[in-house]
Amino acid sequence: MSSAPADLRMGKVRRVNGPVVDVVGLNGVAMFDVVAIGDAGLAGEIVSIDGDVATAQVYEYDGSVSPGDPVTSHGEALSVTLGPGLLGRVFDGILRPLDAKDVWLASGRASDASDMSWHFTPDATVGEKVAPGALLGRVTEGVRFEHLILVPPEVDGVLSWLSPEVDASAHQPIARVGAVDVSLSHRWPVRRPRPARARDGEPRLLRTGQRVLDLLYPILCGSSASVPGGFGTGKTLLQQQIAKWCDADVIVYVGCGERGNEMIDVLEDLARLRDPRTGGALRERTVCIANTSNMPVMAREASIYTGVAVAEYFRDMGYDVVVIADSTSRWAEALREFASRTNQLPAEEGYPATLGSALAAFYERAGNFTTLGGNRGSVTIIGAVSPPGGDLTEPVTAQTRRFVRCVWSLDRDLAYARHYPAVSWNESFSRDAERVGLMRSEDGDTAWAERRALALALLAESERLESLVELVGAAALPDRQRSTLRSAKLVREAVLQQDATSADDAYCGEAKQKALLEMVLAVHRALIERLEAGVDAQRLEQVDLSRVSSARESGGPDDVAAVTAVRDSVLALLKTVT
Ligand SMILES: Nc1ncnc2c1ncn2[C@@H]1O[C@H](COP(=O)(O)OP(=O)(O)OP(=O)(O)O)[C@@H](O)[C@H]1O
Ligand SMILES: [Mg+2]
Repeated sequence: MSSAPADLRMGKVRRVNGPVVDVVGLNGVAMFDVVAIGDAGLAGEIVSIDGDVATAQVYEYDGSVSPGDPVTSHGEALSVTLGPGLLGRVFDGILRPLDAKDVWLASGRASDASDMSWHFTPDATVGEKVAPGALLGRVTEGVRFEHLILVPPEVDGVLSWLSPEVDASAHQPIARVGAVDVSLSHRWPVRRPRPARARDGEPRLLRTGQRVLDLLYPILCGSSASVPGGFGTGKTLLQQQIAKWCDADVIVYVGCGERGNEMIDVLEDLARLRDPRTGGALRERTVCIANTSNMPVMAREASIYTGVAVAEYFRDMGYDVVVIADSTSRWAEALREFASRTNQLPAEEGYPATLGSALAAFYERAGNFTTLGGNRGSVTIIGAVSPPGGDLTEPVTAQTRRFVRCVWSLDRDLAYARHYPAVSWNESFSRDAERVGLMRSEDGDTAWAERRALALALLAESERLESLVELVGAAALPDRQRSTLRSAKLVREAVLQQDATSADDAYCGEAKQKALLEMVLAVHRALIERLEAGVDAQRLEQVDLSRVSSARESGGPDDVAAVTAVRDSVLALLKTVT
């Protein structure tokens, strides 16, 4: 927000307890005010006030701070600068720009971005009254991204001056609205949801290019999803796949307490990869917020709110934005560490009693909105959860389930068997599936929901038969049940498995997804038909179906013809078995 900072308040450090600092003398300081601690001015935030003692969580290493050091506050809540220059770059948990190499550094040292300038093209009429969200002009970022410059929230009045076309820095005024100079960027307090006109936008499909999600557990723009999974089950890879290939306009990728090298990998991939829809580099639509395991723990707590505030900023321009947080468990650990250092009464497993409300405050910022300017925009939130020991009943996993619309649960046994992505069909769900079925049907694919139901039924039936097989052996099952086991295996291998490392399979276009599942269901029907026609089951079982399983890797991500060719030849072959 562009309002002037409030009066300067000054106090002193009384006690340092790791990343938690007690301060005295900050008269009139409020919850969530930002403070500058010690001579280095380390950034912190007031998170509890008891009499004249205010407690701050510090976002940087505070080893040099000692009792008696000065503390100052301008009475501003933790805020970030939102404007051009976010896309394609990396920031720390409180949105200070980092160089990629800084992701490795121990402290979130800022690199200076104030010398960047942007070509502003005005598009508004001087003399008119304007309200928050009204269009003032545009800046193009990268080769194609249209960054709308809007009247910031809480600013309104007559547009008395508008800059002509100009190369402007982020802070240079480009318009005057009422008594306020508006520049390309403005400040916003991250914990406060940005205002919108209504939460009523029509959702649209979010296509992830990942078959198990798009076909079985689909998600709509504006929804939320959780990706729980034990150690090494593929949470990061699945989220990276979504960041790379989903058809949102903007991705905000928050690396929260995870490994720095994973963040570097994702940046390098995004710079190299082309957006299948636009041909531009994928990096040009991505904002990375890195608060990796080597950075101060408390900035993690802020980083997910920072990520959502950035997402809401782009939503306000009418974009569909996806926020990816890896991992919310590391974020919850920051809450726990803070609770223990401030002697809060611990609730379950040492997490503060406010864990649930903190998770709700995060996931509730997802949604479809009519923006202040009257556009339709959305924020989708996808958060990984890393339950210790893979225990899905632990507090962060269990609480998160209450607030999300989709759970994509990763299964240790599937991962161990190298079935990737290891999305479990026993533990996962999507509350959006029914709506997606209706939308697909309106778009002309009337059998989408039926195919989904058939695939899920085959998986469930084979799961049940599998346990029988363990007892009595496959040979003891009736022919038809053995055939079901075989078809379910085809669903898993030909459709659900998807190799993130394969150029042809990492992303799968919608038409090919449909063709693959249709092929497997057609083969399944043909097998049953042949059995019912009295064909010898053993002879059918000898027919090699490996071409069906590998069809996903033949041709490119949109090559439907290659799949149809496999289907036709396999169906023809099955007809010849007598
Ligand atoms: N879709 C996939 N295609 C190919 N390999 C995969 C896929 N998903 C996961 N893997 C394999 O599993 C490994 C672990 O994945 P990942 O690092 O994403 O797991 P994680 O759940 O994030 O682990 P951690 O608990 O350590 O954060 C990867 O290095 C890769 O070898
Ligand atoms: Mg990971």
